[in-house]
Amino acid sequence: MPVTANANVLVGYNTSDDAGVYKLRDDLALVQTVDFFTPIVDDPYEFGRIAAANALSDVYAMGGTPISALNVVAFPIETLDASILEQILHGGASIAQQAGVAIIGGHTIKDSEPKYGLAVVGTIDPNRIVTNANARPGDILVLTKPIGTGILSTALKRDFIGEDAMREPIEWMAALNDRAGAALHAAGAHAATDVTGFGLLGHAREMARASNVALCIRAKDVPLHAGVLELVERGAVPGGTRDNADAHAAFTRFASGVPTALALALSDAQTSGGLLVSLPPDRLSTFENALRGSRALCAVIGEVRGGDGIAVE
Ligand code: CO
Ligand code: CO
Repeated sequence: MPVTANANVLVGYNTSDDAGVYKLRDDLALVQTVDFFTPIVDDPYEFGRIAAANALSDVYAMGGTPISALNVVAFPIETLDASILEQILHGGASIAQQAGVAIIGGHTIKDSEPKYGLAVVGTIDPNRIVTNANARPGDILVLTKPIGTGILSTALKRDFIGEDAMREPIEWMAALNDRAGAALHAAGAHAATDVTGFGLLGHAREMARASNVALCIRAKDVPLHAGVLELVERGAVPGGTRDNADAHAAFTRFASGVPTALALALSDAQTSGGLLVSLPPDRLSTFENALRGSRALCAVIGEVRGGDGIAVE
């Protein structure tokens, strides 16, 4: 893409960050992001919730506050009942309401497959932007949601698991990263990003590259959804996760003891994943306290070192 030179662009797409940031005044900037995708669960209401939480997440990952959003919709209105679209939009609206975000419009096109998401606008103090580019050696790495939603969605499609097994993961995917976003500021986190389609290792790599550091991840400390490793062993691995794992091999050094299934799970393409946060070790208790009472985990999964790339131990 051509680079647009503009002094008000505080975060553009060149650092692979979660959202763009545009300065309006010295004390106010806009955070902008858009995300939409095809259904990953059967229930249209839950799909709407997940897609909305996922889209809002990129604002929280920058430490911003989402304020308004537009629906982005594709729908095969000639072959699917309009009530399904209604349920998708209701799901999205319920999450927007929970986030205090006003949906003020949107756009719908006819398409062979449903797609839904949000274009989101948030605000942030330009002096308090949390990017993925400031992780420092000596920091610890914290993850706020378990990994494995891609594997679980594939297992559901192939009937390896039933809807029951998806209930808990659906609640995780529909959970806002709002409290984790606020905790970034409370604890003075150095860097953050949310874990989505490129998987934990892919987003860790973007943080490592943007920050000019190496990230060390302790595989056994990474929280996984129930049943994920067993499902990998049975072959429930999405194509996107295999592609991720192939790409991640180029910059990841795996210690010999890391089981193959676990290594693959670390590349699993996530939907509406948690925040990966780099913060000084002495801020951990502040970060944890700021999450108290929310669903978010405070799982310490590794540390930041000098060098480059990702080490999985
Ligand atoms: Co993101
Ligand atoms: Co995104």
